[in-house]
Amino acid sequence: MVDSMPIPAGRKARRRAVANRRAGYTVPDQKNEGGGRTMRVQVAIVGAGPAGLLLGQLLAKAGIDAAILEQRTADYVLGRIRAGVLEQTTVELLEEAGVATRLHREGLVHDGIHLCFDGTRHRIDFRELVGKTVTVYGQTEITRDLMHARVAIGAPTVYEAEQVSLHDLDSASPRVRYASGGNVGQIECDFVAGCDGFHGVSRQSIPSSMLRVFERVYPFGWLGVLSDTPPVAPELVYANHPRGFALCSMRSTTRSRHYVQVPLSERVEDWPDDRFWDELRSRVDSDSASALVTGPSIEKSIAPLRSFVAEPMRYGRLFLAGDAAHIVPPTGAKGLNLAASDVHYLTRALVRHYRQNDDALLNGYSARCLRRIWRAERFSWWMTSLLHRFPDTDAFGARIQQADLDYLVGSRAAAASLAENYVGLPFED
Ligand code: FAD
Ligand code: DHB
Repeated sequence: MVDSMPIPAGRKARRRAVANRRAGYTVPDQKNEGGGRTMRVQVAIVGAGPAGLLLGQLLAKAGIDAAILEQRTADYVLGRIRAGVLEQTTVELLEEAGVATRLHREGLVHDGIHLCFDGTRHRIDFRELVGKTVTVYGQTEITRDLMHARVAIGAPTVYEAEQVSLHDLDSASPRVRYASGGNVGQIECDFVAGCDGFHGVSRQSIPSSMLRVFERVYPFGWLGVLSDTPPVAPELVYANHPRGFALCSMRSTTRSRHYVQVPLSERVEDWPDDRFWDELRSRVDSDSASALVTGPSIEKSIAPLRSFVAEPMRYGRLFLAGDAAHIVPPTGAKGLNLAASDVHYLTRALVRHYRQNDDALLNGYSARCLRRIWRAERFSWWMTSLLHRFPDTDAFGARIQQADLDYLVGSRAAAASLAENYVGLPFED
């Protein structure tokens, strides 16, 4: 499905097409040899997750035209329940993209979180410790807002694009090919943005000799349940318990998102709702347990935990952004926020290229992103180590974890360090 008309090849035609499209007109398709469509845009974006959609929106604001290819349907993308916590810098980027009206109306500003261990809840007050807050607003809602904004500006998005393949990435005129409705489509462009997540085709299109990969796979996953029930507390509760980690989160004052740590061998089918609620209740403090309102799950899934970084995030004219280049375990709530910060740096670099014919920011893109990514990788790994039960945690390891938690709630410096990282580190210039 193409939700607006594609752009014909050729520079003059492209300028005319862009002007037409902005004015609300449609333009005829340019047929390629395969009988399919050829589009000519400045940036081809692979993937319509938050990274791809946000990049498309910020580029459109800057007058740079981009087409997005997404392998799934829009409804499928909207059906994936994922992140929920936004750093202030992510909120500001969404404002810049012009898609923050509903976020400001419906998002919940949180001044802190609770850490729960030994049956007691301890509050970490971000506002008091570092003067910043986070906003709870679901990734699904951000995606919906970005999709609506994209349709409103008439920018091209091809959903259900199959067999997406990247070509001539090391030349000045890369191409992206895809199949849609039985035809072969092609996008000719100046740059390709690989925003297609961990399993996407973009990173795999880089010769393996050009990439260095760093990875840690954790021996457990998160079983998540979404329900139309009120949250147990006004702020998130992260729990360390001998039975394993638990998290009480939310999407609104009437919708909750809860997680429990499970072995990778577990299957969702083995977790009827009652079993999930009993397990969650057993892992949290008594106040949270007695405030827990249970109800039918609307969504239930198991997510494996992984740390992963691919370096560098560029190959020729291909730039990776978001989960295509890096994964963090979700404990620190950093994945979506990192995707947003990559998009911020990539937008600035592309704007500098087109407006000032200066590639310094494009050349520095990977190194600049990676400095922030590795800090988030460290924080997410540390939060995961602090709060989960590992199969090989011996008595010594358990005492170290305990001491780390005691230090955290007993030392302002330690709590401030957690707060500074959780609310998000500032962007570099
Ligand atoms: P994705 O969201 O994966 O989007 C990539 C898109 O590319 C998808 O739509 C996919 O269909 C498409 N695609 C893939 N392959 C192709 C192809 N070959 N051709 C075309 N399209 C393709 N992060 C936070 O910041 N805060 C949180 O609280 C948080 N909680 C999380 C909880 C869970 C349980 C999970 C699993 C993740 C969580 N995250 C969180 C992480 C966050 O959801 C991801 O980091 C974020 O989705 C990354 O966005 P993205 O656009 O880079 O990738
Ligand atoms: C949520 C997910 C996280 O990984 C996290 O750290 C906090 C909240 C969530 O889905 O609400």
